[in-house]
Amino acid sequence: MWVYEKKLQYPVRVSKCDPHMAKLLMEQYGGADGELAAALRYLNQRYTIPDKVIGVLNDIGTEEFAHLEMIATMIYKLTKDASVEQLKAAGLGEHYAAHDHALYYQNAGGVPFTAAYIQAKGDPIADLYEDIAAEEKARATYQWLIDLTDDVDLQDSLKFLREREIIHSLRFRESVEILKEDRNQRKVF
Ligand SMILES: [Fe+2]
Repeated sequence: MWVYEKKLQYPVRVSKCDPHMAKLLMEQYGGADGELAAALRYLNQRYTIPDKVIGVLNDIGTEEFAHLEMIATMIYKLTKDASVEQLKAAGLGEHYAAHDHALYYQNAGGVPFTAAYIQAKGDPIADLYEDIAAEEKARATYQWLIDLTDDVDLQDSLKFLREREIIHSLRFRESVEILKEDRNQRKVF
């Protein structure tokens, strides 16, 4: 169960209408290493992960939804005032034909989200290593997105998200160590 707080985890400001940047940000909305994939991956893995580390998946999976909300806000703000001509020039003509100004779970190339992006192996170490890799890929994607814009307000929000991915990666690494330690202590008679 979740309690909804009607505010973003971190403020999202943009200094200009920029539909092309919105298109690039869709990589973190409905892309393979994006926030939707992260949230769904972690919250789903909770059911078969040892009790000792369920809390980490709960915490991080929930936070990823807050990040998804921030990315949605960025895309909305960058496109809400864009004309059809501006959307076409930004490579969003196909998006407009299918969705008008609505958001859609797709990557920067327009490929719709798929559950094939995420895994649930049932092996705790395999799942946690996937989670660490996912966080590192998300961190790298945020860096490329920061490089792709000169909007300092947008960069500020993206930097916050990049830092959170670093923290998440560290927490998943700690979880691996907790499980390894637990396994080494178990006595077999
Ligand atoms: Fe994350």
